[in-house]
Amino acid sequence: MGCREADPVRFELDGAILFSADLSPVAEHLKGYVGEIEAGPLQKGVPDDEDGPHVERMEPAGQELSLVIVSGRYVRAHEALLRLRKELSARMGKEHRIGVRGVRIDRYTISFSVPEAPDHPVRVPFATSLDFEGDTAVMTLDDVSEDFLSRNYVDRLVALVREKVDAQRYEGKEEFWEQIWTSTPREMPYQEDPTEDMARRGWVQQGPGKGRWFFRPQAAAVIRAMERIALEEVLRPLGFQEVISSSLVPFEVWLKTGHLKGVANEIYYFSEPATRSEEAWEELRDLVKVTREVPRDKLVGLLDAPRAGMTYAQCPNIYWSFQKRTVADEDLPILVFDRTANSYRYESGGRHGIERVDEFHRIEPVYIGTVDQLVELREGLIERYKHVFNELLELEWRMAWVSPFYLQQAGMAGGGEDEEATAADERREGTIDFEAYLPYRGTREESEWLEFQNLSILGDIYTTAFNIKAQRHELVSGCSGIGLERWTAVFLSQKGLDPAGWPEGFKRFLPELPRGFTFH
Ligand code: SER
Ligand code: ZN
Repeated sequence: MGCREADPVRFELDGAILFSADLSPVAEHLKGYVGEIEAGPLQKGVPDDEDGPHVERMEPAGQELSLVIVSGRYVRAHEALLRLRKELSARMGKEHRIGVRGVRIDRYTISFSVPEAPDHPVRVPFATSLDFEGDTAVMTLDDVSEDFLSRNYVDRLVALVREKVDAQRYEGKEEFWEQIWTSTPREMPYQEDPTEDMARRGWVQQGPGKGRWFFRPQAAAVIRAMERIALEEVLRPLGFQEVISSSLVPFEVWLKTGHLKGVANEIYYFSEPATRSEEAWEELRDLVKVTREVPRDKLVGLLDAPRAGMTYAQCPNIYWSFQKRTVADEDLPILVFDRTANSYRYESGGRHGIERVDEFHRIEPVYIGTVDQLVELREGLIERYKHVFNELLELEWRMAWVSPFYLQQAGMAGGGEDEEATAADERREGTIDFEAYLPYRGTREESEWLEFQNLSILGDIYTTAFNIKAQRHELVSGCSGIGLERWTAVFLSQKGLDPAGWPEGFKRFLPELPRGFTFH
């Protein structure tokens, strides 16, 4: 996987094969065997016009045969070492009654090409050193175990170096963005930040905790109206069925979607108690009783290290629920949505109002079907979304192709280059962002519009990762995020908090605002 066709790559291995007896009496035989194996079995699988592995140096010393093996990309030096062991074991056992005890790799040096020398240092795990000579990377690994080799870590390290070099190239480049459609401008009678206004009026309360909101009756009613609109005007007419998922996502699921590579630093991790024993927890309880505080350092000792996290997006658990299934043709496309699991993202510096929070409410429709089915569905979804945003909410908004969301969530270097080349109207895959103008942020031209919704078809990455099959067809999948706080933030930013100014289409879903409470 790590080595692309025709990329120059060189493996140099410094190691040894360990035997069960002193090798000096058989040194000459041994050299003969190695020569014979190098010319024969080691070259198996090497194309005619390519170089196979070479044993550059060998030195019997005591019970060890130390070796330097150099190779290109065919029969790499570590594979050559393992083949050599196997072949020598047969010959030495039969002819000299000497067995092979194991192999050792003291140093493995891998040289391979990268697109260009990186500007900043690149760090990867396991490597003792990583240097760049122009567009060649030279990585050394010390004391490499067989396990390390058989788990394919070498290829993955090469891929990781290339990915990190690529990421540096894309740094600072503008993200891909191409407008598809825009509404006409609308009058904006309201200029305030609606969260601040709601907080003043007691519709919302910040907390408990960072980046979360308590929605009092008025705000809750607006959010629930948005939910009803999404359900009744978008999802039910298109035939989506509801599912209810857990809010916890086990690491196995995120290893498949890639979230633990991409957004590990934004996940809210979840710990189980290490034990439920009364005795183990007694001291903590007693300390709480006496000090009226939680001894957090003690608590950590009672918890298991996390094996799961809180929902980041709802689709991973939905894909999990279909994993290793073969779906009946008549059930295609699968159209489901979850609106139960709240999403959690550690936003740190980015928090703002109800639109950028650590915990939010979203309906996530997920669709799995043939490419044609999903392209048609996308048309249907866009038509229903347009109906909602134009006719019911009367928003000023636009749609644009952006980098597919999984590139970020799965930590893949996401440059714009590939996308630009395929940015035709007839795109089959990709992510569309729905963005709305927020007057409180400034002018239309200069302020950042808010992404309040997205819609993706993502090819077969998830159907492959979760092994979801149909009887006859190739399956692809996609999802769309309906962020209820975001819909609400956009609506209130443009229409204000006075129901008298709200469009009739919306008022059908919320004829009257609850009274809420006045505090003295
Ligand atoms: N899974 C998609 C996202 O995270 C849609 O919700 O953006
Ligand atoms: Zn999703």
